[in-house]
Amino acid sequence: MKFSHQRLGVNIDHVATVRNARGTLSPDPLEACYAVINGGAEQLTIHLREDRRHINDRDVEMIRKIVSVPLNLEMAVTSEMLEIAIRIRPEMVTLVPEKRQERTTEGGLNLKSQGSFLKEVIDQLKNMEIAVSLFVEPSEKVISECAELGVSMIEIHTGTYAEAAQGSPKQLMELNRVQNAVEFATRMGLQAHVGHGLNYVNTAAIAAIPNVCDLNIGHAIVSRALFVGLEVAVREMAAIIRRASKK
Ligand code: PXP
Repeated sequence: MKFSHQRLGVNIDHVATVRNARGTLSPDPLEACYAVINGGAEQLTIHLREDRRHINDRDVEMIRKIVSVPLNLEMAVTSEMLEIAIRIRPEMVTLVPEKRQERTTEGGLNLKSQGSFLKEVIDQLKNMEIAVSLFVEPSEKVISECAELGVSMIEIHTGTYAEAAQGSPKQLMELNRVQNAVEFATRMGLQAHVGHGLNYVNTAAIAAIPNVCDLNIGHAIVSRALFVGLEVAVREMAAIIRRASKK
């Protein structure tokens, strides 16, 4: 099986982070949705965290109503989140690990520690015709376990790649790990998405990997938006991906 279309999924969580810093209504994540879609985002990604530190329940409801591109809801494997996802019915759910103290998602899901509840959540979402993706480390063992759980897609954690110094041997090694993981996932019939820590410098090499599908990018785009505006920041990232995937 071959998957060839790279899609930019823009994560707008940090628009809500800025809003929440003041407890006011601006900047409004809904306005951000229009800007990112105008800028060329092909998917909108939001993470409803258990502590609601950025996106909140109302944001999810409103975004679901207005968004004209597929919605990817990132969430922890909990009964509360399952209930919300079933009510909201995003096109896709990405299941992620969540720890209260972490600054952002650290590491991929530990599939074994989730026990049978993980399978139950996956099955219930699939029954509602919601595509389910699992956010995992670039490891063949873990990817095989994902396939056994019956999902059709995974998101490979690019955080270790992104943290390595640009152009360093360590970064090259991590790039190879991501590439091998994408290849392996594709052979297993899984769509391979990528995300975490991708920015205007390190994304091209990842987007150039054959068979990478969605690239979910948040922090770098929202940061750049402060200087050039959100729509332009998205357009610039979409152009990087387009150029890289044509090579
Ligand atoms: N993908 C997943 C599963 C994530 O949890 C995050 C962070 O919320 C991202 C992608 C986006 O990461 P970043 O904000 O570093 O671009």
